[in-house]
Amino acid sequence: MKLIGLTAFGGPEVLAPHDVAEPHAGPGQVRIRVRAAAVSPTDTAVRTGGYGGSEPAEPLAPGMDAAGVIDEVGEPTGELDTSAWEVGQEVMAIALPSGPHGGAYVEFLVADADSLSRVPTGLSLEEASTLPMNGLTALQALDRLGIGEGGTFAVTGAAGTLGVYAVALAKRRGLTVVAEAAEKDRERVLAAGADHVVPRGDDVAERIREIAADGVDGLLDAAVQNELALPAVRAGGGFATVRGWSAPEDSDVTVHKIMVFDDYHHGGKLDQIVDAVESSALTPDYGRSLPAEQAPEAHRLLAEGGQRGRIVLTF
Ligand SMILES: NC(=O)c1ccc[n+]([C@@H]2O[C@H](COP(=O)([O-])OP(=O)(O)OC[C@H]3O[C@@H](n4cnc5c(N)ncnc54)[C@H](OP(=O)(O)O)[C@@H]3O)[C@@H](O)[C@H]2O)c1
Repeated sequence: MKLIGLTAFGGPEVLAPHDVAEPHAGPGQVRIRVRAAAVSPTDTAVRTGGYGGSEPAEPLAPGMDAAGVIDEVGEPTGELDTSAWEVGQEVMAIALPSGPHGGAYVEFLVADADSLSRVPTGLSLEEASTLPMNGLTALQALDRLGIGEGGTFAVTGAAGTLGVYAVALAKRRGLTVVAEAAEKDRERVLAAGADHVVPRGDDVAERIREIAADGVDGLLDAAVQNELALPAVRAGGGFATVRGWSAPEDSDVTVHKIMVFDDYHHGGKLDQIVDAVESSALTPDYGRSLPAEQAPEAHRLLAEGGQRGRIVLTF
């Protein structure tokens, strides 16, 4: 089968097609004929070796999001019940490049039975492929922050894919949402559900406090502004970091380190994403598609910044 991946860490040019053995669904697993794989900043980190580790002995596929059609279903096991899945079903799944089944830039992806969900009604596979990883990340951040209905929530980098998903899912929980975004992205974050938009900049915390004078109850730092964003949170509130940042020891804010890898076996949570899309609370952040062989171009475009809407590789 075709795998788009790397054998040495480096720039976008290291991504190349490889012909590798087809995997098959074992007990507790399904196999997905992948049609679409979204390209995310985490894929860049896989490509450059940003997660550490030694260079791969076998071609390594980046990609944490896949959508496609099930073409094999393994026997159910005590832990992994495959009985909900059938051949021909359209599904979306989270994938782990460093996990036993590898990343999503592949023609066939084996997935544990609890790492996927059906595609929301009316969505293309390209649109669906933008949902699993960032949808689960936004949910994990909101769950960890645990802000009660009517509370205040801020998102930095709100115009990005994680940002718009967090805005939409927070709004659905009845939170008042403050979004940090450039003026050109104002309509985009308002359309996602933001109540207030504050401009980008090093003074982001001050801007947010102009809306929430005592500080917000919780903040998701999708733009990785760390200490610049921390003062936006009230004493006793929560700060969700997506890059493992630690606050100064004397901080009175609880820092939550968000790791979507931890939710690989929580595919059931994707049902919340399906429900949010089908009730029009969440819109897939789809930009455009490129053939899988153009992965280097997709990674170059992502590195340029300013992309709005996820680029999706098609297989
Ligand atoms: N820990 C985890 O499990 C996990 C899971 C998912 C994502 N992540 C991380 O979460 C982050 C967001 O992901 P994403 O997919 O949403 O990325 P994205 O689509 O690239 O969005 C990032 C957004 O932040 C904006 N931004 C960049 N620098 C900024 C700054 N200094 N001030 C304000 N805004 C700024 C970007 O604007 P421009 O495009 O104009 O630069 C963009 O709108 C990434 O770092 C990703 O690796 C972590």
